[in-house]
Amino acid sequence: MDWPRGLDGLCYGGDYNPEQWPEEVWDDDVLLMREAGVNLVTVGVFSWARLEPREGEYDFAWLDTVLGKLHAGGIAVNLATPTASPPPWFTLAHPDALNVRPDGVRQVHGSRDTYDVTAPAYREASRRIAAALAERYAGHPALAMWHVHNEYGSTSFSEHAERAFRTWLEAKYETLDALNTAWWGSFWSQHYGEWDQVLAPRATQYLANPAHELDFKRFTSDAMLDHYKEQRDLLREANPEVPVTTNLVFGQWVPVDPWKWAAEVDLVAFDSYPSAPDERAEQQSAFHADLSRSWAGGGDWLLMEQAAAAVHSKDGAVAKTPGRMARHSMIHISRGSKGAMFFQWRAGRGGAEQWHSALVPHAGKNTRMFREVVEFGNTLPGIAHTTAEPVEADVAILWSPESWWATAAAHLPAPVDYLENAAQIHRVLRERGVVADFASPEGDLSKYATVIAPTTYVLSRAAAENLRWFTAGGGRLVASYLTGAVDEHCQVWLDGYLGGLTDLFGVRVTEHLPQPAGERRALWNFGAAERFCELVELRGAQCVTQYATGDLIEGQPAVTVNPFGEGEAWYVSCKLGDDAWDRLFEELELTGPGGPGLDVVDRGEWRFIVNHTEQEAQVGHVIVPAGSWAVDKRPR
Ligand code: GLA
Repeated sequence: MDWPRGLDGLCYGGDYNPEQWPEEVWDDDVLLMREAGVNLVTVGVFSWARLEPREGEYDFAWLDTVLGKLHAGGIAVNLATPTASPPPWFTLAHPDALNVRPDGVRQVHGSRDTYDVTAPAYREASRRIAAALAERYAGHPALAMWHVHNEYGSTSFSEHAERAFRTWLEAKYETLDALNTAWWGSFWSQHYGEWDQVLAPRATQYLANPAHELDFKRFTSDAMLDHYKEQRDLLREANPEVPVTTNLVFGQWVPVDPWKWAAEVDLVAFDSYPSAPDERAEQQSAFHADLSRSWAGGGDWLLMEQAAAAVHSKDGAVAKTPGRMARHSMIHISRGSKGAMFFQWRAGRGGAEQWHSALVPHAGKNTRMFREVVEFGNTLPGIAHTTAEPVEADVAILWSPESWWATAAAHLPAPVDYLENAAQIHRVLRERGVVADFASPEGDLSKYATVIAPTTYVLSRAAAENLRWFTAGGGRLVASYLTGAVDEHCQVWLDGYLGGLTDLFGVRVTEHLPQPAGERRALWNFGAAERFCELVELRGAQCVTQYATGDLIEGQPAVTVNPFGEGEAWYVSCKLGDDAWDRLFEELELTGPGGPGLDVVDRGEWRFIVNHTEQEAQVGHVIVPAGSWAVDKRPR
């Protein structure tokens, strides 16, 4: 029970918000959906004010009509609980249920995501609306899946959050002594004498305690997960046949540990919005897809949202040229998504996202965009059978949400862009044609030949043991600078950093040497390092390359390798440029059938090829036109 009920092909559709439109548009919607091959739509994500116009008073008539029309049209429904946007009556009645920013300002309604998952009134109202939907629709023939909430991520620093945080801390540490020790409370007189003295990490005068901040992010992930589970359980109880999910999203603002969450959803679902204005958007899409598949344990997952056309980035809206929507969709499908879903079906006339692209643009069906939507949608049934086998990867990149969170701290040995460091390794591998998985530092690594740890700054004792076990058993471990700098409490690993694994790597790191911005430090025959280097003392490892220049580091080891048990551990003591990673992967013989601008993914007897370049591409016997894609038999 992990798949939208009643659907056995690939899903195609998106967020459908009929409540924004008069009823006469709804019949047209169903007709157009059928024309486009849409088979699943997500309904009701932001409908709370329409479903419960006053506390305890429900209006389901419109939703009954919508679900009836969709069902009659053969379109299945992914029915959402609307808790990501509480109605104005709720927030006015319960101002304490609005989220509080780190600076103490309580937000007001007028946008969305204004809720505090730890506020009792919000929890109760969430249960009530979810239960009312379950009671009415759990047996509805159109219902294929439940979509709880939307993109969990809003953090609150309220008093409710603070109280819940203390309860969470008490469960974790049991005694204040343990908490004070874990948080290094003697520094700056932060020793707590009573649980009630512990606050949420709101804005402080100067630097905050990194262990406190990291625990608050862990707590927030767990608190949001509790909110999800509460709804999931009552939806499941109403009909155990219907899978339940929520759409995960990506961002520094999202304190969600996807490894933990993936275990609680029936189907991992992800919203992919690449932010790059150029061809890096393809890279970001592949990165999102490989992460999602990995959170799903290598199995099926679903691209729940993407933009049909123009994508909003910081620099404005970037158009998707002809064929790009299909290619992005195929990046996801080839990498394990069981379909392609979008935000949203019909472009809104008003509201904050009125200029967001949609499957049906403002100009209607007679548009280039809608023709592409129809063409692609009608192609999918023909390739569904090629997606049965899993994606094959024997390289994994460690994905450590805690390292991402912890490296957001203001005071580090050097500024660290964890996301970019992980993405860089993925990017260079992808350009070499290698499809990589991601793995949790504490997860099962046994199926991989090579595991790469990008700046895995937080390395718990359990993760360190996991890496030791992996390498001893024959694995090849590659770790980059600052890996294992601190433990799970953000306390430094003494005597050489590296998560205490100095014997495994055969080196000790003795000093951090940030380099001036913009200056590159050449490595012998190995490209160059950027921004950050470490002074490394050999303790049994061999030096693969040395720094060619730089105070203190000239002639010192930059990249090392150490045999350990049946395997070997490589250490990269600096931030490498793409060219140097490429050189290292050459050394490690990591190559695959794809290449720059060309995604090639093998699954069982099938090979997926997506050609993002402006030239025709030939892969084996298959010729793929410029800007196009193909699925063909894989050469054996
Ligand atoms: C998110 C949300 C959608 C919409 C899109 C816009 O993914 O879930 O409601 O706001 O972003 O890109």
